[in-house]
Amino acid sequence: MRILILGFGTVGQGLAELLRDSGPWLDSRYGLRPVIVGAVDSKTGVIDPAGLDPAALLEAKQGIGMASLRGAKAASTSTADLIGRSQADVIVQAVPSNLSSPAGAIDQLRAAFASGRHAVTVTKAPLGVAMADLVAAASRGGVRFRYSGTVGASTPFLDAAATLSKADRLVSVEGIFNGTTNFILSAMHEFGTSYQAALDQATKLGYTETDPSNDVDGIDTAVKLVILANHAAGEATRTFGDVKVQGIRGVTPQQVAAAKSAGKVIRLIGRIDAHGLRVSPEQVDAGGPLDLPGATNAAVFTTATCGPVILRGSGAGGRHTASAILRDLVDIWLTTRR
Ligand SMILES: NC(=O)c1ccc[n+]([C@@H]2O[C@H](COP(=O)([O-])OP(=O)(O)OC[C@H]3O[C@@H](n4cnc5c(N)ncnc54)[C@H](OP(=O)(O)O)[C@@H]3O)[C@@H](O)[C@H]2O)c1
Repeated sequence: MRILILGFGTVGQGLAELLRDSGPWLDSRYGLRPVIVGAVDSKTGVIDPAGLDPAALLEAKQGIGMASLRGAKAASTSTADLIGRSQADVIVQAVPSNLSSPAGAIDQLRAAFASGRHAVTVTKAPLGVAMADLVAAASRGGVRFRYSGTVGASTPFLDAAATLSKADRLVSVEGIFNGTTNFILSAMHEFGTSYQAALDQATKLGYTETDPSNDVDGIDTAVKLVILANHAAGEATRTFGDVKVQGIRGVTPQQVAAAKSAGKVIRLIGRIDAHGLRVSPEQVDAGGPLDLPGATNAAVFTTATCGPVILRGSGAGGRHTASAILRDLVDIWLTTRR
């Protein structure tokens, strides 16, 4: 399987590390021999249809830069051109994107599908606004489109939702899908600090983006909820516009203290139920399944006949997110090999 990695940051490099370390195991278990035929960051693209050494790629990226490698070119070429030159079977997309400018990331996926290539993405914004179009484009191209790592990184919330709703009705999902806001609310609860002081602490520890609004205004959670709801339903009818969203900027130390004295904690909850999709700060039981420390993610699934089913785990990290990509690659391999 020839893989072109678009975006060689935390997650892209995490994937290269996993491929470097798990090659023989993937071969013996699945007969899968993944080869990186291209890696592209914002400045440079390195392409070699014969295969690139993951260790050399990582060393160059973390050292003098990928431009030092044979086959390196300025990364201004189109995705279609990169796909053509690399002869990739599948593109892995791990680039930044946001809801106000998702077009570049959407175009990368469209280019892959139009040229008959499978795609795995961990970039959420395209799915938040154009999931139905992308799923249809993949279907028209006769290729697979996987996105396990977009929700919960390595914790398989999407698989759980799809499995539980296969022969049953998913009545509700409530969960914590954003580690940054969970860290901030945990700190407010534990130390009685203000929202701003807890945000500053999260920033100091490297939990936040330069602009934290995507996290603290609930946008990241809302996009994940859209992906989860669509994936569980097996049809991509929802978009970001269908989610009622309220972030955590307005949560006060007084509200946190009142919750505490009632045996509750305040958490940013993403909720799917009969009323639709909603993201808002809610009181949940202290010591309950959604009272999580720090940056952990969790979801409680309830179906017409089963529930609650609880899943919790890490929701971020380069290697964790890359492990979801690897699952998707294995899945594509197993469902398409002849
Ligand atoms: N990190 C996580 O835990 C996690 C979890 C789930 C999902 N995600 C999503 O995964 C994506 C990547 O996250 P990350 O943490 O790996 O981000 P990152 O560390 O900032 O890396 C992003 C990479 O994309 C490159 N890039 C930027 N624009 C590009 C373009 N147009 N074409 C090709 N490459 C481009 C950057 O180039 P330079 O190296 O030159 O800057 C960098 O290599 C994001 O959409 C993020 O939301 C991340």
